[in-house]
Amino acid sequence: MRCAVISRKFDLRSYYGKALAQIADRIESVDHPVTEGADTVRIALAWHPHPDAFECYPNLKAVCTIGAGADNVLACPSLPKHVDVVRVVDPDQAQMMAGFVSWHVIWHQRKFATFMQHQRDRIWQRLEQRPASGVPVGILGYGKIGERVAAHLAGLGFPVLAWSRAPKPLPAGLRGFHGRDGLFAMLAETEVLVNLLPLTPETRGILNRDTFQAMRPGGYLIQVGRGEHLVEADLLAALDSGQLSGASLDVFAVEPLPQDHVFWDHPQIIMTPHDACDISADALAATLVATAVAVRAGERPPHAVDRQRGY
Ligand code: GLV
Repeated sequence: MRCAVISRKFDLRSYYGKALAQIADRIESVDHPVTEGADTVRIALAWHPHPDAFECYPNLKAVCTIGAGADNVLACPSLPKHVDVVRVVDPDQAQMMAGFVSWHVIWHQRKFATFMQHQRDRIWQRLEQRPASGVPVGILGYGKIGERVAAHLAGLGFPVLAWSRAPKPLPAGLRGFHGRDGLFAMLAETEVLVNLLPLTPETRGILNRDTFQAMRPGGYLIQVGRGEHLVEADLLAALDSGQLSGASLDVFAVEPLPQDHVFWDHPQIIMTPHDACDISADALAATLVATAVAVRAGERPPHAVDRQRGY
């Protein structure tokens, strides 16, 4: 089966070349724009596709993303209504995210920002430390990745609260919240807020003044969802007022973050370049193969997102 590789933001072929090579006997990958035989392309691999990217593939049946979030493919104006959008579900990616989030929760809990400043200033000073049991972590988004993050944090001794759109069964020890009232009930108990939500019209801008104000004073934000979830000016105001003591940001409304952006030098912000986690070559290869098998059988591929819901 032929698969068009549609790269705009970065070079998917060089980044995921190993996965594409691994399945080359079953899936022929061709770089977009495919000039010859575009009508034989039935699946695509895409991330931030060009607005008109899908116009030239009349027989396209499914598009695979390279991650958990499908928002940037779903937002593409040329994506035909009948085409399935498939996300990658990778336990290794979830584990990587769990490690990343835990590191940042501990960074806040154990006051590492202050220790680093003290080291730069050659100050030898012990700081008052709090046990994990005294630092409640609220997780926005309890899907496959949220589950793993929550389990990891609970294992480290943090009280974990989880918010999802609709009620979900939770393992013992985790407290679940849902709906708007549930969101504010959770925030009232939250010291560290972890955003893992998919980007949808309902979640856009959810990290705003009201959200920060509802949290425990001196709280901390870990933003690993999508840049568009955050109202940047509201974060800066919450940091200035002390309502939040700091933030770890991995995703931004504009990526790469512009050179003159205020976040670069902000003393209470630590940043990473949308690198909190990544999928493995094996997971991507397996997703492409499972998608091709389903398309050939005329079935819906596994992990096809609900296009109405947006994830
Ligand atoms: C990364 O941003 C992902 O959606 O997996």
